[in-house]
Amino acid sequence: MANRILPFITLVFFSTLFSMVIGDDGVAISKQYPLVVSTWPFKEAVRAAWRAVDGGHSAVDAVVEGCSACEELRCDGTVGPGGSPDENGETTIDALIMNGVTMEVGAVAAMRFVKDGIRAAKLVMQHTKHTLLVGEKASAFAISMGLPGPSNLSSSDSIRKWSKWKENNCQPNFWKDVVPLDSCGPYHAKASMDVKEGGCSTRNLMGVAEPRSSLVGPHNHDTISMAVIDKVS
Ligand SMILES: *[C@@H]1O[C@H](CO)[C@@H](O)[C@H](O)[C@H]1NC(C)=O
Repeated sequence: MANRILPFITLVFFSTLFSMVIGDDGVAISKQYPLVVSTWPFKEAVRAAWRAVDGGHSAVDAVVEGCSACEELRCDGTVGPGGSPDENGETTIDALIMNGVTMEVGAVAAMRFVKDGIRAAKLVMQHTKHTLLVGEKASAFAISMGLPGPSNLSSSDSIRKWSKWKENNCQPNFWKDVVPLDSCGPYHAKASMDVKEGGCSTRNLMGVAEPRSSLVGPHNHDTISMAVIDKVS
């Protein structure tokens, strides 16, 4: 068996869809395949991917179907339109897909007004020489390629989450080494004793990186990562 096992990744909103394809050389199909694997118990996403790949669609298309299901269902409240808002209260979309056979990658990030992240990522992969399109450039591209939009990506849930977060002094947030620490911005870099004349920080050069949590769970991990193997020869 000459298996090529290659990664295949998709991100939706603050979330990664991680997918894998094993290349097909077109001969015998193992009974073990197709195979669909996903992070967390997103059964509807796995079922959608399974229906696609079991019905003869490629692993790439199966990942698109699986991840689109999560975007529509707003898995864990963060994936897709109406999911977690940014500091300004706006929901934007991130998605990344990789074809493990060809190693092509397509991605969108901070895409506004278009709800179909993974479909947009696939269009970037298929129809551009770019890897990543962002913001309104991503939206314009996606709409020009036929995806629906512009649409309002906020939901009553995302607006409620944002209001609660504002009421909670904008905590928690993704800032670090800034002041103010425990209220809303604007934020400024914390004055640091490390900054020496010439702008070099010896402490930073010598220091160790701030450790990140060693625990991986649904709340410090990309939301959905999906791997699909269509067949193996
Ligand atoms: C978008 O939808 C949200 C939630 O339904 C709503 O509060 C907001 O006013 C809408 N924005 C626009 C520009 O229509």
